[in-house]
Amino acid sequence: MEKGVTVWFTGLPSSGKTTIAHKLEGTLRNRGCKVEVFDGDVIRQHLCSDLGFSKKDRDTNIKRIAFVCKLMTRNGVVAIASAISPYRETRDYARKEIGDFLEVYVKCPIEVCTKRDVKGLYKKALNGEIKGLTGIDDPYEEPLNPELVLETHKESVEESANKVLQLLESGGYVQPVKKGQRVPV
Ligand SMILES: Nc1ncnc2c1ncn2[C@@H]1O[C@H](COP(=O)(O)OP(=O)(O)OP(=O)(O)O)[C@@H](O)[C@H]1O
Ligand SMILES: [Mg+2]
Repeated sequence: MEKGVTVWFTGLPSSGKTTIAHKLEGTLRNRGCKVEVFDGDVIRQHLCSDLGFSKKDRDTNIKRIAFVCKLMTRNGVVAIASAISPYRETRDYARKEIGDFLEVYVKCPIEVCTKRDVKGLYKKALNGEIKGLTGIDDPYEEPLNPELVLETHKESVEESANKVLQLLESGGYVQPVKKGQRVPV
């Protein structure tokens, strides 16, 4: 059995977590890896539909995702979590629980995130229509020692995903493509 691992994307809203997670998922599937994405938005519609955005609920959300990632990881899957996960202590909890854990900081200046505003949340927060948006009026604690930092305002989605792939290869979680081996792009 392959050695499982959790890749944990953390970062501000619109920094690029979901986009990179799905790009990476596709690449890994093409290589024949077992992979599953746990995206904050999807999880909040199902496993965490009872939760809001208080610190307590945000922590519970992350702890539930970590629990599922732990089960996946011990069964040889590459589990990919993409959730803001704003609190350092809760990310560290996930790391300790899971063991094989790669923290990837999806870093992007808030000005760029605000311009992207994929879901229109920054606009709403700045208008006062919603309260408690991470980065505006709720905290985001930057990772201190992440395995990888992706600067998504400087690199393409492909570049970012490839950096994670290299990390997975160098950690022995994913086999590098052998010379002459054909892999769908
Ligand atoms: N290198 C890059 N990596 C990822 N996304 C990028 C990059 N460069 C530009 N983008 C763009 O930035 C946007 C990121 O949106 P995405 O939904 O992935 O963010 P998110 O971090 O998942 O946000 P949220 O926390 O609100 O779910 C997309 O429109 C994407 O095309
Ligand atoms: Mg997202």
